[in-house]
Amino acid sequence: SVPSFVLNSGARIPSVGLGCWMGAPVTAGSAVDEETYTMVRNALDAGYTHFDTASGYRSEEAVGKAIRDSGIAREKLFVTTKLALARKSVVDAFEQSLKKLDVGYIDLYLMHWPLTIDASTGKTIPFPQSPTFSEVWIEMEKLLETHKGKVRSIGVSNFSIKNLEILLKTAKVVPAVNQVEGHPYLPSLELDGYCKSKGIHMTAYSPLGAGATSPLLTDDLVLSLAAKYDSTPAAVVLAWNVARGWSVVPKSSNPTRLKQNITLPPLSTSDLSLLSSLHKSSPSKHRSLFVYPGSGEKGDLFGWRVKED
Ligand code: A2P
Repeated sequence: SVPSFVLNSGARIPSVGLGCWMGAPVTAGSAVDEETYTMVRNALDAGYTHFDTASGYRSEEAVGKAIRDSGIAREKLFVTTKLALARKSVVDAFEQSLKKLDVGYIDLYLMHWPLTIDASTGKTIPFPQSPTFSEVWIEMEKLLETHKGKVRSIGVSNFSIKNLEILLKTAKVVPAVNQVEGHPYLPSLELDGYCKSKGIHMTAYSPLGAGATSPLLTDDLVLSLAAKYDSTPAAVVLAWNVARGWSVVPKSSNPTRLKQNITLPPLSTSDLSLLSSLHKSSPSKHRSLFVYPGSGEKGDLFGWRVKED
């Protein structure tokens, strides 16, 4: 199994997990539902112990069922899910996720975004209009008491330094994790340093770049390191993230690629620093699902820009 990191809650998070966002919401009985279930079963067979889902992905039921059907002891697994954006009570949202997953407890519960959406209008509620993410966080903190044993750690996702600073002013519990997009083309170095200084573990989503056509996977340096270590481009970029202390949650529906993504090469210090410099020499290749050059408006609007360079 892969190494793990210790969170500020005392829990351990396996360094590689399976991202369970299928690129579209999963609906019960759909082909994607089946695909998700099969993916998670295959991942469990391949030795994955960490699964990352969200109420917004609508894959919680398929993920939970695959875990239960595997018969693998719950204590061996780490399951993350995320609070929906909709404006409803945090307790209700949490209990719904708990029920859908039906795996006894949730290892890590994340606030999916630093914003809330008004369920009746579908519009985002602009900061600092209530409920702010700081208010939502207070409700998440309460879960640790009211739902002891049902949630082991709480954290956030898509938080910039600016938003973390706001959150930490009133937070009693420092988030265990901040999950953002992260890979050599989008290293978020400042955010990484800030989170390390606060004891917040970072998890990278889309750690291969953005999707199957990610230019990162055909980058000359990445290709040469894959050849050098008799590995794959994906494993090289994942190993880089793990070496800097981040966990990664790549998604793959393909059994061969699933195995590649948990077999990480031991990159040398000098090769790691070459990868760390990649973002400087390849700015035109920066890719991000949400924030990328020329299209930062969404991130700016929500105030959760994670891209800093
Ligand atoms: P597939 O599921 O067909 O393997 P995300 O950014 O959500 O983590 O998605 C990762 C994307 O990269 C998916 O489209 C996935 O496609 C693809 N992928 C996953 N692992 C690998 C790999 N080892 N090599 C190449 N592509 C990969």
